[in-house]
Amino acid sequence: MQINPFKLERYFAKYEFSARYLLCSSDCESLSVGELLALEPGSEEALRGHWLGYTESQGSPSLRKEISRIYTTITPEEILVFSGAEEGIFLFMLAALKEGDHLIVHWPCYQSLFEVAKGIGVDVTLWEARKENSWALDLDELKGLVRSGTRAIVVNTPHNPTGFLMPRSDFDALNRFTQERGLLLFCDEVYRELEYDPDDRLPSACDVNPTAVSLGVMSKTYGLAGLRIGWIATHRSELLQRTASLKDYTTICNSAPSEFLSEIAIRHREKLAARNLEIIAHNLNLLDGFFFRYANRFEWIRPKAGPIAFPKLLEGDIETFCDELVQESGVLLLPGTLYDHPGNHFRIGFARRNMPDSLAQLEKFLTE
Ligand SMILES: Cc1ncc(COP(=O)(O)O)c(C=O)c1O
Repeated sequence: MQINPFKLERYFAKYEFSARYLLCSSDCESLSVGELLALEPGSEEALRGHWLGYTESQGSPSLRKEISRIYTTITPEEILVFSGAEEGIFLFMLAALKEGDHLIVHWPCYQSLFEVAKGIGVDVTLWEARKENSWALDLDELKGLVRSGTRAIVVNTPHNPTGFLMPRSDFDALNRFTQERGLLLFCDEVYRELEYDPDDRLPSACDVNPTAVSLGVMSKTYGLAGLRIGWIATHRSELLQRTASLKDYTTICNSAPSEFLSEIAIRHREKLAARNLEIIAHNLNLLDGFFFRYANRFEWIRPKAGPIAFPKLLEGDIETFCDELVQESGVLLLPGTLYDHPGNHFRIGFARRNMPDSLAQLEKFLTE
């Protein structure tokens, strides 16, 4: 397997722990272990007594039981827990695809959603979300991309990097289409439950589509990236088993304390999501004002869900702009070129509590 470097993650490796103001993070404000344990009386004592041996490879039964409550039709046996969503993506691609298969991927996107498949020798076609359509996907276009060797379709909604949320009618049509054509649908739902209007929330693909696989994680909506716990949920038991047997070659099983803490967090997930949505609402309001004041410099395409958006720099080169910004002000934005996107966009993140300070630094940079 020949796999290209993950551009965005390499960029973060360079700056995440050195830049002073992170203004492009894709996760939400985190918590300390103490704050998490405070959600549940008796949990601190239970953590002290928690056994540190190997855990069940599929994920602890009690954690899978909690995760299954996120869904309406999924049983604990239909969940496979990983060390982060990233491991889930990697092993799913390895289990579901082989050299010569054809894969269609919603783009721009988190690079591993297509890069792992390319590394296997899969022929990847990008299904482009365009700014002119407010980042919506065109289902008629998808129908034209499917061909005889097409095995699967990958979508991400709510979306990284645009904050686009698929309308329910499109989501239903996509699920119908993949079922009719016998195509596997891999739906990256790591930002689910961060819809600004709760009425816009989509069902999980795995709950409405027997051919679908849904991806979830602790990192984004719940702000617990350091736990490194993610999962897939699906009724496709044979595919789940194949993916599970590949995990024997990566992590074998998950971290026992992380599973313990994730279980608590999922029991209180509504509280965690509500807290992060409050931070987002406050910061989005600031961004609306900022982009109104600088409408001559940026185009603001307001997201519908999640902690990130993908505005456009109207004049100048986005890589140079981001580079000068981080060097001079310590503010980190993410140039859209790291998604191989040519449109002069950048990713902005707004689910951290210090976002107002970071935005003030960006404004200072623009006015000095
Ligand atoms: C859309 C999407 N999927 C998957 C992941 C991977 O999540 P994790 O880093 O928690 O494994 C990310 C992380 O940024 C993401 O944005």
